[in-house]
Amino acid sequence: MMDIKIELVKTRKEKPDMNNLGFGKYYTDHMFEMDYTEGIGWHDPRIVPYHSLEMDPASMVLHYGQSTFEGLKAYRGKDGEIRLFRPEKNMERLNTSNKRLVIPEIDVEFGVEAIKKLVEVEKDWVPTGEGTSLYIRPFIIATDVHVGVHPSRTYKFMVILTPVGMYYKEGINPVRIYVEDEYCRAVRGGMGFTKTAGNYAASLIAQETAENRGFTQVLWLDGVEKKYIEEVGTMNIMFVIDGEVITPELNGSILPGITRRSAIELLRSKGYKVTERRISIDEVYEAASSGKLNEAFGTGTAAVISPVGELLWEGKTIIINDGKIGPVSHLVYDTITGIQSGKLEDEYGWITKVEAK
Ligand code: COI
Repeated sequence: MMDIKIELVKTRKEKPDMNNLGFGKYYTDHMFEMDYTEGIGWHDPRIVPYHSLEMDPASMVLHYGQSTFEGLKAYRGKDGEIRLFRPEKNMERLNTSNKRLVIPEIDVEFGVEAIKKLVEVEKDWVPTGEGTSLYIRPFIIATDVHVGVHPSRTYKFMVILTPVGMYYKEGINPVRIYVEDEYCRAVRGGMGFTKTAGNYAASLIAQETAENRGFTQVLWLDGVEKKYIEEVGTMNIMFVIDGEVITPELNGSILPGITRRSAIELLRSKGYKVTERRISIDEVYEAASSGKLNEAFGTGTAAVISPVGELLWEGKTIIINDGKIGPVSHLVYDTITGIQSGKLEDEYGWITKVEAK
């Protein structure tokens, strides 16, 4: 494995108020960086002081969006230990995104090692409060200087860290969601299954409209028929209908969430029937009107588990579980956050510890 060079800052930044972090507002003292050059591969891995980038204005990422990213978190338990949740899954998904965007892959084990090393250097930045964590953002950008459309031959991989609180102001309280019926986020054959900047750019217009109307997020329907449920802007979605947990199957246009996968695995292990299949918005509305829609909740790294209390689709509102968190959402939230914080035993083998107390 390549050796990671470490250059430490002389003076560390003053820490923000760890009880009032918001999301993505503060960045730590160091970052990880390495470069890719065609014919050489990935090289010069290093942890260096957090710094601005100087880029040529013709850098390809700025024009054609050849970029991929990931999101995961480091959690500090009451026992002082720092835990990562399934980091290898993030690195595997990064490579899935890389393949689609013709970006060279990164060795999964090395990527996890780089993240562990960086978090170790920044261990004092992992907050301790309930619901807080150190958000980890690995990302890759195309750096060739060229105004022409083809894959870049040089790239930069970076990892930055930001101590965070809740992503939604609602926290674990149910959110209101607007079902988008005009725009679409992705279609099959496109890039919906990747974490790439363009997918988020495509979502902004609907997100902005929804927020202006007092909604937290947008629920996306399929781009062809505007009929089948896909995902929410920053999380996957699950419905509990007549006791069965149903979530849209991965179809190429949905992000394969790691929290989604973990929720499915843990609910199945606890005896729940969990089905991954196509589910239409009509079916959800019908279940609501016949009293069979028990719960809905989102799953995501940033969002954690977020109950959905209300949906608005084509002018029709449904209130789910009286706008309160339901037992299945609660179980998933308690189990996943319990394992992440070390409160619960890691019976699924999901935790990677960072060597730091
Ligand atoms: C995450 O859940 O980690 C995400 O990347 C969603 C959003 C913050 C982009």
